[in-house]
Amino acid sequence: PWSQFEMAPTDPIVGLNEIYNKDDFPSKVIVGVGAYRDDLGKPYVLPCVREAEQILMDKNLDMEYTGIAGEPKFVDLALKFVYGEDSVPIQENRVHGVQALSGTGGLRVFGELMAKHGHKHIYVPNPTWGNHIPIFTNSGLEVRKYRYYDAESSDLDFTNMMKDIKDMPKGSLILLHACAHNPTGMDPTMEQWKEMSETIKKQGLVPFFDCAYQGFASGDPVKDASSVRMFVEDGHLISMVQSFSKNFGLYGQRIGALSVVGADEDEAKRVVSQMKMVIRPMYSNPPRQGARIVTTILEDPRLTQDFLDQCRGMADRINLMRTLLQDKLAEAGSTKNWDHITKQIGMFAYSGLNKDQVMEMREKHHVYCTADGRISMAGVTSGNVDYIANAIHDVSK
Ligand code: LMR
Repeated sequence: PWSQFEMAPTDPIVGLNEIYNKDDFPSKVIVGVGAYRDDLGKPYVLPCVREAEQILMDKNLDMEYTGIAGEPKFVDLALKFVYGEDSVPIQENRVHGVQALSGTGGLRVFGELMAKHGHKHIYVPNPTWGNHIPIFTNSGLEVRKYRYYDAESSDLDFTNMMKDIKDMPKGSLILLHACAHNPTGMDPTMEQWKEMSETIKKQGLVPFFDCAYQGFASGDPVKDASSVRMFVEDGHLISMVQSFSKNFGLYGQRIGALSVVGADEDEAKRVVSQMKMVIRPMYSNPPRQGARIVTTILEDPRLTQDFLDQCRGMADRINLMRTLLQDKLAEAGSTKNWDHITKQIGMFAYSGLNKDQVMEMREKHHVYCTADGRISMAGVTSGNVDYIANAIHDVSK
């Protein structure tokens, strides 16, 4: 039964690890997948997470199934974390949601939910996170793109984005990256978000936020939720997916949330009941540990403060590496303008290197970034920044 199966291509982001692992060059470097590393290049478990794990261990909890929608306490805390405790719809109990298998899982459930309920397409920024496209296509939605980034100027293409938004048919779904746009690291300013919010409302579009980097853009999760909170204050009945992979460093725990703001409590609960109809035949119910860890942290003010400090520490280290990389490029002799490295925010630098340059960097220097020239700044350290800068300069001069 298997003979006609062809070998599928490796994933452009996570598949890079497989290629990198086969390379035995001693000073090889990987700056592909967005996963935080400490300054020694090692994976980092937040101390508040370690503490939460210990607390949970001491509680001797059972391993029963959770509900289809996951852990209610976690969902409640996750929603307050992004919408804010004083958000009007939160206070009116009309924001509801489910625990999700991190961002990807939430996106997939959302895509299928919307396809099942009459939506035919979704607009995503161009470029967007590569996985958005197969996620929505597999959900049964046609993926359409709106202009977002101008590669020439390495800047947001706000004028053309607004033009494209104005051309979207009424009722269309539009995906917005809440903060730290992946892959470009370029976000709209608050004034631009305001204009987008007004136009999206006027056009009668359905905004859906992907919030994967809350805390990584500015170091402050409250500030990073500003776009979402503004849309909610403006009266949009938004939906959104949250990931706790990056900000809590819980990547492999697959922990996130999918939520919706309803016109009233009943409406939001009806949508959640339909999410459960998608989830049950897909994976039945989500894993528990990640939800328990986030809950343990967010329900304890001291652990929450520790989390905020540790999250900011990661963001600060990345920003330091941005400055260092830009400086080292100049030191290496590059006369190109690399200002965008420090202008962009979040985990990634959208370097502007083209595919040939990326391939040359892999072959000649054993430095691995994604084919679109995206460099995970989270993988840059004071130990490898010189090497990376020299490699970039060599292939771009
Ligand atoms: C990334 O873009 O590197 C992350 O979102 C991780 C992933 O799954 O692709």
